[in-house]
Amino acid sequence: MGGPSAEYSVSMASGAMVMEALKSFEDLDVQAVIIHEDGVWEKTTAVPHGHMRPAALIRPNPPRRHILAGLSLLEDADVAFVALHGSFGEDGTMQAVLETLHLPYTGSGPLASALAMNKRRAKELFQWHRLPLAPDFYIPYLDPNAIQQLLPQIESRLGYPLVVKPNDGGSSVGIHMASDRDSLREALYDLKEYPRPLLIEKRLSGRELTCAVLEEPDGSVRPLPVIEIVPHAGQFFDFNAKYQDQGSEEICPAQIDVRSTRRVQDLAVRAHQILGCRGFSRADFILTADGPYLLEVNTIPGMTPNSLLPKAAQAAGLAFPTLMRQLLDLAQN
Ligand code: DAL
Ligand code: MG
Repeated sequence: MGGPSAEYSVSMASGAMVMEALKSFEDLDVQAVIIHEDGVWEKTTAVPHGHMRPAALIRPNPPRRHILAGLSLLEDADVAFVALHGSFGEDGTMQAVLETLHLPYTGSGPLASALAMNKRRAKELFQWHRLPLAPDFYIPYLDPNAIQQLLPQIESRLGYPLVVKPNDGGSSVGIHMASDRDSLREALYDLKEYPRPLLIEKRLSGRELTCAVLEEPDGSVRPLPVIEIVPHAGQFFDFNAKYQDQGSEEICPAQIDVRSTRRVQDLAVRAHQILGCRGFSRADFILTADGPYLLEVNTIPGMTPNSLLPKAAQAAGLAFPTLMRQLLDLAQN
């Protein structure tokens, strides 16, 4: 838990909740391996708690010696429950390290993780399978001097309103909404130091839904109940709305017609399978007048007390500790 991404504090909260849950099993000896903000790794039996706030979108690389020393903390582990989010922890990098160490771990492998974290690459695969997606404009590298020329290109391709996001971000960190040329320019200037690709999407109007899926021991994939998210403050499900108690209302199961529910659940299962995910994932959607559109797949969905996966599991009659144990038992290498 923890880690170098902008979702550091989210991961700390997810990790704490996973640890609490797994500690209720007497046959397990649970220890936290925390990757602190300064890059130092620590192993502890104490359940950590921290403040929920986004870390900077761009963080310096931690010293290599911290990583090398940190990996040795995994020496005696039998299995790793990966409660990291974002780059390094959710994008296949850590998963590849765990593969190298022959240490079984929860969730998706390196390829599926990398694909899901790269929103544009994932969309290319979804497009091939004709899943409904928002039209987009991909910026592999934002040259600050080219912003002025980009504006009319983006505008003529997509129109407004738009969503500007880091192509490999999470928890809405760095997301900007643009309703006209001025706000689009402002969004791009705001992200001009971001060293990785950006994805600009047509902002779909509709209800915001999410659907988690779980893999059963026999390999079948089962969708959990669909959740509708109704953010209160602001206009969208931003970082604060996601992680503050009163930030949004989450209705589970979503009060939508049976056909839409089935369609969302079917798309969530297909998206999981198309990317080759393992164990669990959560797909996010906008339900428009033309039906649901898939936004993205999260291979390590948030497991904070305010997160969506624990709510969906509860609505399906699956206690959170039981769910965590199930994921742990599915761990592979
Ligand atoms: N990226 C956050 C953790 C989520 O999808 O829940
Ligand atoms: Mg996400």
